[in-house]
Amino acid sequence: MKLSILGSGRVAYSVARRAIAAGHEIVIGARDPSKIDRKKWVELPSVKFTSISEAGLGDVVLLAVPWEHVDHILEQIPTWDRRILIDATNPFVGNPLRLLDMGGQNASLLISKKVPGAAVVKAFNSIKMEIFDLGPKVKSGTRILFVSGDQRQAKERVIDFIESLGFKTIDLGGLAEGGLIQQAGGPLAGKDIILNESNS
Ligand SMILES: NC(=O)c1ccc[n+]([C@@H]2O[C@H](COP(=O)([O-])OP(=O)(O)OC[C@H]3O[C@@H](n4cnc5c(N)ncnc54)[C@H](OP(=O)(O)O)[C@@H]3O)[C@@H](O)[C@H]2O)c1
Repeated sequence: MKLSILGSGRVAYSVARRAIAAGHEIVIGARDPSKIDRKKWVELPSVKFTSISEAGLGDVVLLAVPWEHVDHILEQIPTWDRRILIDATNPFVGNPLRLLDMGGQNASLLISKKVPGAAVVKAFNSIKMEIFDLGPKVKSGTRILFVSGDQRQAKERVIDFIESLGFKTIDLGGLAEGGLIQQAGGPLAGKDIILNESNS
């Protein structure tokens, strides 16, 4: 699969590394592709760098920028036409980072409103990248990633992608219910959950 990633930070690198190892193609959309520090990406020579607006035309796009920059990144992608947006963001702001008081609002539903026509699937947000980087296999078990989304086919495509990286998935249902459970501050946020193969 060809995955376009908006942002070139920690999440972008970790997902790109696993995806390339599994045979996928990665395009990174950056604010200024000419300013990307290529030394950081030297071990992933197949990665292509382009603008946000160009990367945003991909069939499957991973949103991996800090919460406070989501608006100006998504504004550069005017139409979605049922293309998939994987929302990896969490509503952390400031320096040092603090969890924004969302007043019970669902972060991914807010993102959905900014991308009319997109099939939004929430994934990758609830695992810390230092844990993700350890990989899917843990002794006799397999690490789990959570997925929520309202469009079945889009969600299945994201599940297939994640499982192609070696992880297992748990489908938490639609964005309204599942998104709240997996978003930062929710009960599954930051949980490292392992599926014990002998119980599956
Ligand atoms: N780090 C984790 O463990 C983790 C885990 C799960 C979810 N998340 C969430 O995933 C999202 C990305 O996290 P991250 O850790 O990858 O963030 P990060 O390392 O800080 O990288 C974010 C990227 O966003 C891009 N960006 C776009 N506009 C920006 C602006 N105005 N200022 C600064 N950067 C800007 C930058 O890429 P360009 O310079 O190429 O434009 C930057 O490399 C966040 O919403 C975070 O909460 C993080």
